[in-house]
Amino acid sequence: MKESIQALRQEIEAATLTDLASVEQFRLSYVAKQGKVNALFADFKQVPAEDRKAIGALLNELKDLATDRWKVAQTALEDQLPAGDVPQDLSLPDIIGRVGSQHPLTIVRQEIIRIFSNIGFNLSEGPEIEDDWHNFGALNFPDNHPAREMQDTFFVARNPDMLLRTHTSSVQARVMQNQKPPIRTLSPGRVYRNEAISARAHCLFHQVEGLYINEGVSFADLKDTLYYFVRELFTPETKIRFRPSFFPFTEPSAEIDISCQICHGEGCNICKHTGWVEIGGSGMVDPNVLSSVGIDPEVYTGYAFGMGIERMAMLKYGVRDLRLFTENDTRFLRQFAALG
Ligand code: PHE
Repeated sequence: MKESIQALRQEIEAATLTDLASVEQFRLSYVAKQGKVNALFADFKQVPAEDRKAIGALLNELKDLATDRWKVAQTALEDQLPAGDVPQDLSLPDIIGRVGSQHPLTIVRQEIIRIFSNIGFNLSEGPEIEDDWHNFGALNFPDNHPAREMQDTFFVARNPDMLLRTHTSSVQARVMQNQKPPIRTLSPGRVYRNEAISARAHCLFHQVEGLYINEGVSFADLKDTLYYFVRELFTPETKIRFRPSFFPFTEPSAEIDISCQICHGEGCNICKHTGWVEIGGSGMVDPNVLSSVGIDPEVYTGYAFGMGIERMAMLKYGVRDLRLFTENDTRFLRQFAALG
């Protein structure tokens, strides 16, 4: 039985369907009630009980293949016919059928943009293929910084170095270069890092970075803004914690943690039983960065933050594997249809 299914499959795949006659012949041979596929279904009765599941699945696949090929060929033929000749059967089922919906990352990104635009942030964008200066140099990375190594960063060209941006801080470098303070901007976008793909890491992901530069901006403003943000995006009960850290472009720097949205601080696998989950980095823009983009650090101060959109979507919706966001499995994506 398996062999006959396989043989028929090859026949169906090989058939050339170019004109009315060949399409009709195909229909009679494989799609019609008296066709060869249905004949196999008749033999199904003789299949031993233990093989039925597997053989049944193969048979159904074969039937779908034949029907799909026929429908596609039929539609192609109709498209070529002058309008008047198209058979008008309005009761025919719709072949396209499904309507798409917004990707969960799009939903979360839009929500983040809404929250920050309510407090005066505008949007900025920049190239994904970036030069070394905007991604590293302007941001106070020393020449021999490990992030500049090939094992961390995807280089597109060397001398002069061009790379796939590793963060959207590169967009902030561009904005600071081209605009005068006050600057209050949000830069969402795709970023790349040379990492092995797993449930928790991917070579591409999305970030949203924020920057506020003005006279008299302090760390208290940063804390207040992010506190407002996490309560809006998650729940009003969400707590926030700043952990001292280091970034070349901010001083002082802090990691941003929020109370775990899955266990609400009780301790679970996602928060590694600490009750806290990191969502990004932040800090006061280093005076060296301001100088390198032509802003006087004696007059202006600013804060910056950067957060992973995947990480926030995972916490918000309880998604446990990062790979789901790029696999495009409609069984996953469909679950967000009502939200977007
Ligand atoms: N650019 C940092 C990163 O990608 C995040 C960050 C942005 C940290 C702004 C501090 C300030 O890891």
